[in-house]
Amino acid sequence: MKKILVIQGGGRAKGNTARLIQHFVMGAEESGHSVEAISLVTNEVKGCLGCNACRYGKPCIQKDAFNGMVPKIKAADCIVFASPLYFWTLSARIKAFIERFYCIAEEDPNPPLGRYEKYPVKDCALLMTSADDFFWTFEQAVSYYQFALVNYIGFQDRGMVLAGGCGDTNGKPQIDKTTHLQEAYEFGKHIYSDV
Ligand SMILES: Cc1cc2nc3c(=O)[nH]c(=O)nc-3n(C[C@H](O)[C@H](O)[C@H](O)COP(=O)(O)O)c2cc1C
Repeated sequence: MKKILVIQGGGRAKGNTARLIQHFVMGAEESGHSVEAISLVTNEVKGCLGCNACRYGKPCIQKDAFNGMVPKIKAADCIVFASPLYFWTLSARIKAFIERFYCIAEEDPNPPLGRYEKYPVKDCALLMTSADDFFWTFEQAVSYYQFALVNYIGFQDRGMVLAGGCGDTNGKPQIDKTTHLQEAYEFGKHIYSDV
């Protein structure tokens, strides 16, 4: 049984992304995992200010929800990044959340090539929705996920659901008309089937 923390980086409260998360959570819970989902809309996390207070043993000076989330981040086996596609990449809320990993980094006297510091070792996954559904729709988002989260921070990728073709936000969510909810359920159910 794993502890899974889902970070919902925006989107409508009952929108496509929220529905995708619900189905992922259903599958993961059915397989016995404990899952908590936190919305960055109701728990605001601002971007890093680069003040470096955290590098001198102080907690992050930003007054927002992040410091309270740190114990949950540290306790999680897997962090699931969930976001609508905004201007061809992850939402600004998810980006701000990722920037704040700066304050949980630790000194690494011998970092691997291309990394400067040490981060807690965890798994990660990506859940996204979008209006369009071209072969390149999620290219920038996946590239950022792969580079910043997997290659740099050092998360182990457990997989992703990229739910294209969910309609725009000018109307009701359309994700129910796609196969992505079933895909998210199956993904949640089998996310650790291989271990
Ligand atoms: C500010 C904004 C930017 C968007 N940018 C894109 C985009 O670049 N490509 C795309 O396919 N859809 C784009 N969309 C559509 C959303 O990604 C899509 O409707 C998504 O499923 C909305 O998620 P929600 O229902 O959880 O709010 C955008 C929507 C908004 C509001």
